[in-house]
Amino acid sequence: MPGTPPAAPAPGAPAAASPAPSGALMIGPHTVWPPVVLAPMAGITNAPFRTLCREFANGGGPGGAAPAGPQGAADGVHKGLFVSEMITTRALVERNDKTMRLIHFDATERPRSIQLYGVDPDTVGKAIRMIAEEDLADHIDLNFGCPVPKVTRKGGGSALPYKRPLLRAILREAVRGAGDLPVTMKMRKGIDDDHLTYLDAGRIAVEEGVTAIALHGRTAAQHYGGTADWDAIARLKEHVPEVPVLGNGDIWCAADARRMMRATGCDGVVVGRGCLGRPWLFSDLVTAFEGSGSGGPSGSEAAAGAPATPTLREVAEVMVRHATLLGAWLADEARGVIDFRKHVAWYLKGFAVGSEMRGRLATVASLADLATGLDALDLDQPWPRDADGPRGRSSGRNRVVLPDGWLADPYDCAGLAADAESDVSGG
Ligand SMILES: Cc1cc2nc3c(=O)[nH]c(=O)nc-3n(C[C@H](O)[C@H](O)[C@H](O)COP(=O)(O)O)c2cc1C
Repeated sequence: MPGTPPAAPAPGAPAAASPAPSGALMIGPHTVWPPVVLAPMAGITNAPFRTLCREFANGGGPGGAAPAGPQGAADGVHKGLFVSEMITTRALVERNDKTMRLIHFDATERPRSIQLYGVDPDTVGKAIRMIAEEDLADHIDLNFGCPVPKVTRKGGGSALPYKRPLLRAILREAVRGAGDLPVTMKMRKGIDDDHLTYLDAGRIAVEEGVTAIALHGRTAAQHYGGTADWDAIARLKEHVPEVPVLGNGDIWCAADARRMMRATGCDGVVVGRGCLGRPWLFSDLVTAFEGSGSGGPSGSEAAAGAPATPTLREVAEVMVRHATLLGAWLADEARGVIDFRKHVAWYLKGFAVGSEMRGRLATVASLADLATGLDALDLDQPWPRDADGPRGRSSGRNRVVLPDGWLADPYDCAGLAADAESDVSGG
């Protein structure tokens, strides 16, 4: 594990200017190197999980000495971009209590990156003006990729880019409201193979002044099934050379990230399910791009460029830290542990734990319970190789539920349900 982190400026202090590393990802004024982005994931990428990922990206993490913070930003360069879970614009404008907590950033987190979901240009504009005027974030990402039926049924999420004028109106209001803040967009390829939208949407986004575009190489119909189409990422890159294109889909290890960049020519990668229960993937990613060790649960191996292979003891340490951070964030240890339960199976994937212990750990009610349960395991187990590879959602879906007549005319924007934005989460 590495030792003392480089001295970091106080949060918000201007970073010393230095030339951007070649290949760095520019998100407006923010220089990101390595060009790796934590994908927004509803219910997952809250401040505690982002802190863990940032710690690993910056050479720290449990067992290491480096605290979370803008390390790596001392020279104005951020080691990765860590996007918040999705926030609905209407709830933000209405200052909904839960939403105001969701937009909380750790005091040391820079850039503060927030993902918004909205279907109404005026509300999106208002929400973004509020963020800019009240200095609530440093970067805004807009979500047009959500495939969930309750969202697409009302014309939102991945259904929305089909209506070109509406997409344009939302992006226009967003960029206008953001002032100097960079606005990026995340989308899927389209509704299904017969209704691809990503090239038109990319062009509209460039015309409206979006700073960068992320593409998940699946249609809404694919949901999370099959494999992501990296060729589509390459086509988008050719189509919108004016802005950085970020590739997303099926990056399970750092080598996949390098492979995607080589294969598609994209400017950066967005990593989602690969870091579920594996926040140290950010350590591997930094190592792979920088070509030098930066720690992680198995620092020396990571230093050689091989993926981190933590023992169960090291994984358990990360689990306790994750649950502790959640408790602090929620100002309630028990709620933090309950929220942590969903992560247990991902952390333990592949380890010989036994179904009874797995069940017990997935129903723990306190940090002490969690620690006792973990202590009862054979913690000297090495990293199980079958824990590598895909994890998280993998289901497909055949038909995308849309409002009646939605596909009849991409330029007719009637039909978006008035409540298309309520009760939305996920992407
Ligand atoms: C649990 C979960 C929640 C997600 N929530 C969001 C979200 O709020 N916003 C979004 O744009 N995408 C969301 N996504 C999609 C991911 O950001 C990403 O596009 C997708 O998982 C594909 O990348 P991957 O193959 O690296 O996982 C979510 C995915 C998962 C698995």
